[in-house]
Amino acid sequence: MKLTTIIGARPQIIKASALSRAIRNSFSDKLEEVIIHTGQHYDQNMSEVFFTELDIPRPRYNLAVGSGKHGKQTALMTERLEEVFEAEKPDAVVVYGDTNSTLAAAIAASKMLIPIVHIEAGLRSFNKSMPEEINRILCDHVSTLLFSPTQTGYDNLVKEGFSQQLSSKATADSPNIYHCGDIMYDNTLFFEKKAELSACKFTFCKPPYALCTIHRDSNTDNKARMQSIFEAILQISRFCQIILPLHPRTKKMMPQMLSQKLLTELQDNSNIKIIEPVSFLDMIYLEKHSSLILTDSGGVQKEAYFLKRPSVILRSETEWQEIVQQGNAFVCDADRDLICQRADAFLANPPSDYPPLFGDGKAGDFICQTILDTL
Ligand code: UD1
Ligand code: UDP
Repeated sequence: MKLTTIIGARPQIIKASALSRAIRNSFSDKLEEVIIHTGQHYDQNMSEVFFTELDIPRPRYNLAVGSGKHGKQTALMTERLEEVFEAEKPDAVVVYGDTNSTLAAAIAASKMLIPIVHIEAGLRSFNKSMPEEINRILCDHVSTLLFSPTQTGYDNLVKEGFSQQLSSKATADSPNIYHCGDIMYDNTLFFEKKAELSACKFTFCKPPYALCTIHRDSNTDNKARMQSIFEAILQISRFCQIILPLHPRTKKMMPQMLSQKLLTELQDNSNIKIIEPVSFLDMIYLEKHSSLILTDSGGVQKEAYFLKRPSVILRSETEWQEIVQQGNAFVCDADRDLICQRADAFLANPPSDYPPLFGDGKAGDFICQTILDTL
């Protein structure tokens, strides 16, 4: 059976490594994988670095769509993916998460009647001002196999009308939904030990430090929110070092969105280390050795939990309800005072209990076997 896997944005490249590993280790006689990179992310440290480090097979195609407005970027991807699907004639298309690359592949494949396997299905923020919410809802509703990492995600699909009955031959009109654990957890477990080799690169980190990532458009493209979040970072830096691997979107927007005074204060502050985006192993190292994580990233919230670190979520809601319900993460939105308060509280009293919520680290194997059994 031939699968085409669609990747484009950084987290999708990382997630794809888990499935490729499962195929290589246990299913290579039955599953052939052709990787297609849409080119949504293209900087060396947003794309190439992961292929070398995580041993991901080279994409057979790079569609080189680059950056752009939602409509144009998605349309370009859809057009080029259609051509590749015509040439490759895959038995199924595998998509991850909720980016424009996910949506484009879902549009192209569904119109060509190619079954879609959606990994990270069912997640909802219930906030349609988020481009990702649109992408994931649309993708879920044309998919044939939907793999949810959490019970909440699975329940969301049931509430939206998906049947819990499993067909032995799933189709787009009779899709199968599964709660199978998180493929990102497979990766964290697999790479956690190796990530310790990154220690030599981060001798400038002085524990206790807080690791911070920011890239959501709701933050980067809004002056008041960006200003408030960075004021909080400045305040927290008075009692805790901040390490901030900067997403290119945020790098571009900071000079436009922050006051000159705040920019200067951030630049002059030796307790705030703003660095280029790091590799996955470096990121796992930084997460694991941090005392606190401040983030608006979906993936980083979860990795914080996998690695038993509390997180302050810089959004108004999260798809990962479970980690908030457990008390290991707190939704602080862009509220400067709340962010500081929570950071302070987590540093003073770190939670110690992180019950397993994301499966057994074998989601990749389950997905491969299910594809073989039901398509
Ligand atoms: C995208 C996804 C988001 C995901 C994130 C992961 C959508 C709608 N958004 O957001 O869900 O959480 O990726 O990181 O698909 N840029 C570069 N170099 C790059 C990539 C981007 O400079 O290699 C800059 C460009 O100025 C670009 C901006 O970042 O315009 C935004 O990139 P884009 O891919 O549109 O969205 P992300 O914010 O990265
Ligand atoms: N990540 C990374 N280097 C960085 C920042 C993040 O390797 O400098 C990894 C992180 O460990 C996680 C994934 O990228 O696996 C999350 O991607 P991102 O935050 O870009 O997107 P999201 O998960 O919000 O869609």
